[in-house]
Amino acid sequence: MGGLVETVWLDEIDSTNSYALNNFDFFASGTLVVARRQSMGRGRKGRSWASPPDVNSYASLILKGFKFLPAQASWIGSLAALETIRQSAPRLGVSVKWPNDVLCGGRKIAGVLCEGKFDSRRKPAGIVIGVGVNLNMDAKSLAAIGKPATSILVETGEPVQDVGGFTLRLGEEAMRLYGLALSEGVASLHKTWKSENMLQGRDVEAVLDDGSAISGRVEDLSLDGSLLLRTASGILRSIRSGEVSIRPV
Ligand code: BTN
Repeated sequence: MGGLVETVWLDEIDSTNSYALNNFDFFASGTLVVARRQSMGRGRKGRSWASPPDVNSYASLILKGFKFLPAQASWIGSLAALETIRQSAPRLGVSVKWPNDVLCGGRKIAGVLCEGKFDSRRKPAGIVIGVGVNLNMDAKSLAAIGKPATSILVETGEPVQDVGGFTLRLGEEAMRLYGLALSEGVASLHKTWKSENMLQGRDVEAVLDDGSAISGRVEDLSLDGSLLLRTASGILRSIRSGEVSIRPV
């Protein structure tokens, strides 16, 4: 597996993920769709993703014939963001948080939205891995998001000079990780993701999609991407989807 096949640069689009899904058949696998600005950037669970012009990285990678699970695709996105942030700001303490966030000092600095593409016969055709990284957003704009969020600028005091260059490196890193999964198996990404997981061994509360909550200690991440929690009564619970927060001591 080589690097990126093509990069599509857009001035403005509703969402690079929507554009990549709508134009999936026109692009080769390994195409990265990049925008300077998104007017309707999308996050997980129908949330919006703040996407002001030129300050942050917004990109979606098209992978055709993707044979891994969507949760495993999200490891590619979050690990690529993690590594590219580290290259840009080596002293920044960043880690991944289940299911697919990148955090810095408890605040979100990057997010990943993976969406499957199906052909006219509803057969899986591939996946779009969308990654947003907050690079040069200022503290005031971050506060307006209404959730703990940060950027490389706010954390280091130094702006990322070349936003496009950052996004290209992120795309190349995602392709490298995908190549690794193909050549060595997805277990290689699983191992790396687990070693970067800030929740490992922590006492957490998981709120599931139906609104119910489970408390427990994070014991592991299964190969299918489920978070494994050991409850106080000793039962091991497998969480496929939900929101997890660290319980105050
Ligand atoms: C999340 O944490 O909720 C996921 C955020 C994903 C945002 C990125 S920005 C590029 C791509 N296009 C979108 O509309 N969303 C993703």
